[in-house]
Amino acid sequence: MRTALITGASAGLGVEFVKAILQHMPEIDSFWLVARRKERLEELAAILPDGKTANCIAADISCSAGWDVLKAELAEKNPDVALLINCAGVGRMDNFADSDLETQVNMVNLNVTGLTAVTSLVLPYMKSGARIVNASSIASFCPNTKMTVYSSTKAYVSFFSRGLGLELKARGISVTAVCPGPMDTEFLGIAAIKSKTFDMLPHTSPEKVAVGTIKAAVRRKAVYTPGAFFKFYRVVAKILPQSIMVHMAKT
Ligand SMILES: NC(=O)c1ccc[n+]([C@@H]2O[C@H](COP(=O)([O-])OP(=O)(O)OC[C@H]3O[C@@H](n4cnc5c(N)ncnc54)[C@H](OP(=O)(O)O)[C@@H]3O)[C@@H](O)[C@H]2O)c1
Repeated sequence: MRTALITGASAGLGVEFVKAILQHMPEIDSFWLVARRKERLEELAAILPDGKTANCIAADISCSAGWDVLKAELAEKNPDVALLINCAGVGRMDNFADSDLETQVNMVNLNVTGLTAVTSLVLPYMKSGARIVNASSIASFCPNTKMTVYSSTKAYVSFFSRGLGLELKARGISVTAVCPGPMDTEFLGIAAIKSKTFDMLPHTSPEKVAVGTIKAAVRRKAVYTPGAFFKFYRVVAKILPQSIMVHMAKT
């Protein structure tokens, strides 16, 4: 059985990834769905067509208790993971000095530590030909004030993806970082986004982002930025010094 393991599969982009895999990677017949809300994972599992199986794993992957759950499941079932999608992530908009320690550290624990831990745990179950997709963001292109911790975590995700992709090339495993702009998911409410700059940005549908990302992963692209506007923004952020970009990208 060829398995896709998707974190953050209880909402938003993670749900759309499952649907996009069904459409564009028919060879995947087993779905490992990971998030804290098990009932949401079971609802998604219920819509899988005949011949596809689901394993719903309730785990908080921001901490070692969640990693232990995943580790035990992997050791017991020994899956052939053809696709790992690290999608779980959280953001928060606030001045760093006005935000509480728990909120800021939780972003690092999930977006950075959790993503790293899941990749480390799952990699031994991936063979040549397998793929990894990491959910980064346009926030990774340069520091975003009031989202300083979030944009720093996503810079990590993009750096990690690029470096790991080269390390794993010899093993025949590719790594794709997806860098979406705003998507109307639960994320925006949880992140408490209130920003005129942000409101002016084009919003992308999570469905389109998921389909584009799966196609990019199939082609083994290292970075996929959905939408012409954000592709242009990525180029601008590469050319201009960060001392200028940090002002232009103020939220
Ligand atoms: N929406 C945007 O505007 C946007 C833009 C660029 C990038 N992104 C990135 O895209 C990814 C998906 O975002 P989204 O918009 O789909 O967000 P979302 O709708 O809020 O979904 C987040 C997912 O992460 C899971 N999650 C949160 N904390 C977790 C934890 N401690 N352990 C395990 N799972 C956890 C949630 O499930 P439970 O709550 O059930 O655990 C949920 O399934 C994130 O990495 C985000 O940073 C989002």
